[in-house]
Amino acid sequence: MKLPFIFAKRFVAGESFTESVPKAKELNNKDLKLTLDLLGENVKDRQTATDTVDSYIKLLDGIKEHDLDSSISIKLTMMGLDIDEDFCRENLFRLLDIAQKHDQFVRIDMEGSDNTQITLDIFKEAQKKYGNHVGTVIQSMLYRSKNDINELAEMGSDIRLVKGAYNEPAKIALQKMADIREAFKDQTKVLLAKTDFPRFGTHDDELVNWIKDYTIENDISKDRFEFQMLYGLREETMVQLNEEGYKTRIYVPFGTDWLPYFTRRLAERKENIWFVLSTMFKK
Ligand code: FDA
Repeated sequence: MKLPFIFAKRFVAGESFTESVPKAKELNNKDLKLTLDLLGENVKDRQTATDTVDSYIKLLDGIKEHDLDSSISIKLTMMGLDIDEDFCRENLFRLLDIAQKHDQFVRIDMEGSDNTQITLDIFKEAQKKYGNHVGTVIQSMLYRSKNDINELAEMGSDIRLVKGAYNEPAKIALQKMADIREAFKDQTKVLLAKTDFPRFGTHDDELVNWIKDYTIENDISKDRFEFQMLYGLREETMVQLNEEGYKTRIYVPFGTDWLPYFTRRLAERKENIWFVLSTMFKK
């Protein structure tokens, strides 16, 4: 049985692009940039993966048509990574060809640890071919991220740093919030020192305030990095950061395949369950 969309409404802008456009416009009008994400992951058949690329190409057209200030995010398992790596790479490059023509930016989201290495390998190939039209994500909680950050920073990659949304075992990932925050801070320092424009994806005040203090102390200007947060969470904080002169971007997911994304948001924070319930009782 499929849950009705009303459950996901708090975190997902709409079940289609058209339905999401008014929300996207509203956020742009508040001077917040966007990253639109067509929800879906772990596609198991070639036709669905091909259709997904077509939908993303239409999305690029839609962003232009509606004059939205938005990049896009994709997941490689949506482009057929679980089916065949070469097929997935071809799909990604087909999308990147069009994105480059539109002068658009595509971020490859990071998924569970089974896919970290292959995602980074494909990303590095993509960066060689498409330069600054493509970026990826590093998850602070993984032990390997210390090396990955150094390598990608040396390559001048466009990185979104996040804690990591997937349940990873202690063998490969930090488990305590304090340790994950310390890793996030260390990796932030590397990105600020070695890359042009790092992006920090977090709703955590401790990290947001630390980044503000660290950049002020080290004379790093506010236009050298960006704060990113998820749709439906902390919009007022984003507006406030904007007013303080920081660069901001909201990640706006949409689409019918919202259940896995929605489940991760609920697992992250018990308050999110309350958000969902309060949305349901609001008109
Ligand atoms: P976390 O949930 O750890 O909470 C820490 C503290 O922050 C809380 O105790 C509270 O004090 C404060 N806080 C958190 N949420 C709050 C709220 N809504 N209101 C008030 N205070 C709040 N993950 C991944 O694996 N791959 C990816 O590609 C991405 N992409 C991505 C993009 C963007 C733009 C964001 C913001 C996040 C991701 N993530 C992700 C998800 C990320 O890895 C992580 O799971 C979540 O951001 C949750 O971690 P936080 O640091 O945001 O706060």
